[in-house]
Amino acid sequence: MLSWDEFDKDEAPAKAPVAKPQAPKTAEPVVSAALNTMNNEDGVSIADQSVLEKANAAIEHLDVAAGLEELEMGAARLRVEDKRIINCHLDLNQLVPFKYDWAWQKYLDGCANHWMPQEVNMTADIAMWKNPEGLTDDERRIIMRSLGYFSTADSLVANNLVLAVYRHITNPECRQYLLRQAFEEAIHTHAYQYCVESLGMDEAEVFNMYRELPSIAKKAAWSLQHTQALGDPNFHTGTPETDQELLRNLIGFYAVTEGIFFYCGFTQILSMGRRNKMTGIAEQFQYILRDESMHLNFGIDMINQIKLENPHLWSEKFQGEVTQMIVEGMQLEIEYARDSMPRGVLGMNSGMMEEYLQFIANRRLSQLGLKEQFPGAQNPFPWMSEIMDLRKEKNFFETRVIEYQTGGALTW
Ligand SMILES: [Fe+2]
Ligand SMILES: [Fe+2]
Repeated sequence: MLSWDEFDKDEAPAKAPVAKPQAPKTAEPVVSAALNTMNNEDGVSIADQSVLEKANAAIEHLDVAAGLEELEMGAARLRVEDKRIINCHLDLNQLVPFKYDWAWQKYLDGCANHWMPQEVNMTADIAMWKNPEGLTDDERRIIMRSLGYFSTADSLVANNLVLAVYRHITNPECRQYLLRQAFEEAIHTHAYQYCVESLGMDEAEVFNMYRELPSIAKKAAWSLQHTQALGDPNFHTGTPETDQELLRNLIGFYAVTEGIFFYCGFTQILSMGRRNKMTGIAEQFQYILRDESMHLNFGIDMINQIKLENPHLWSEKFQGEVTQMIVEGMQLEIEYARDSMPRGVLGMNSGMMEEYLQFIANRRLSQLGLKEQFPGAQNPFPWMSEIMDLRKEKNFFETRVIEYQTGGALTW
């Protein structure tokens, strides 16, 4: 095996030219060679020999410094102090030494809290959903709206991570968490699909709701608008403008999509579970909410670290823009609350949700080091903090980790 440290410069150029493997001109096509079953003196079939020759020729011309990022053969070992979240030109294939312990710790916490949707018993939900007396129309509306929004929202987040964000984050421990998060988003989409299938809902109606129902479509459109620029294969960070564009994306997805757009639906469904209704769906949402609180915290830490390393990006003008993004997100979520909850239901109403969302918006602003815009906004749903304590999320995970690992039923 080739070792970077043992690499001998005398035997190969420091930067081998890129060469496509070339088969000898006399070699037969692999398909016809494979038909030849004659053996040579060593017992190796002629067909195998031909393939071996091609393989050896390809290896001989292997570019030892090829990769997705430019690598330098024989380069010095990494220095932890050179690591940076964006615009770092170190070898990103080397995970250690760690610089951002918070990113690695969140990766470990995410793995320790692994769960799968099938672990949750949906029997009681199916009976309640199919019983005409099981739920009120307003409660059914909440279930439909929640599955309608979330069934595609987690795909938007996953696609943004994998297709837009990942290649611009130039730090291996952060990328390690992004990979874990991407898998968790797949599990969340799986969970919503599992709920829709269990309850025998019209899949097309639920999964297409983000294109049909205005209060859901607007939230999805707002998120999608913030992934477009980065999805362009010609987009590169490295200028103040493009670096700010990356920050807009991270704030748009971590602080707004995962940090605001999920909150009305989560609160409604968890409130239902507290009333012993649709407890299977509520349990799925509770697991998802815990994952999401980790995603949010990781995103906030990463954004703040980028700010710290690139203070010129965090201009007064840009701070104003970010404040507006948070308030836009809050307004869209209030609109969703009014649409999904036209009357009081489950001990809550859209007015209480509005105050809760102001409280959440204040929290997001202060997490980003910005001024709170809604002084005095209180949390009308303190029980949400027991499920996902906004101030003690880490402790929350530590105390519940065993239940997560066994997939046992949760107590409310
Ligand atoms: Fe998710
Ligand atoms: Fe997420």
